[in-house]
Amino acid sequence: MFPAGSDKGDTKAKPAIWSSLADFTAKAQAFETESAKLVQVVASGDKAAVQKQFGAVGGTCKACHDAYRAE
Ligand code: HEC
Repeated sequence: MFPAGSDKGDTKAKPAIWSSLADFTAKAQAFETESAKLVQVVASGDKAAVQKQFGAVGGTCKACHDAYRAE
């Protein structure tokens, strides 16, 4: 999704993505992990658990945006 050298043109992706790619990738993986859990929780039909897990997914969005997305 973010190949090296793609920090050109109209983007809010911070150059820090490419200088700390391991951390960026880790945050992307955390997002994938929490999203996969959300799918499982939704399948279980437990509304309270869905709400909680939805928050966990949102937290991974924010963690990455705070570090790597320009305002
Ligand atoms: C691993 C990092 C990462 C994760 C996780 C992530 N994002 Fe992002 N997101 C970015 C970056 C970097 C940009 C800026 C991309 C650009 O402008 O080219 C962006 C841009 C966006 C934008 C466009 C905003 C704008 O100003 O144009 C939206 C909307 C968005 N993300 C939503 C989400 C949501 C919702 C989630 C979680 C469900 C999420 N993102 C998870 C890195 C991430």
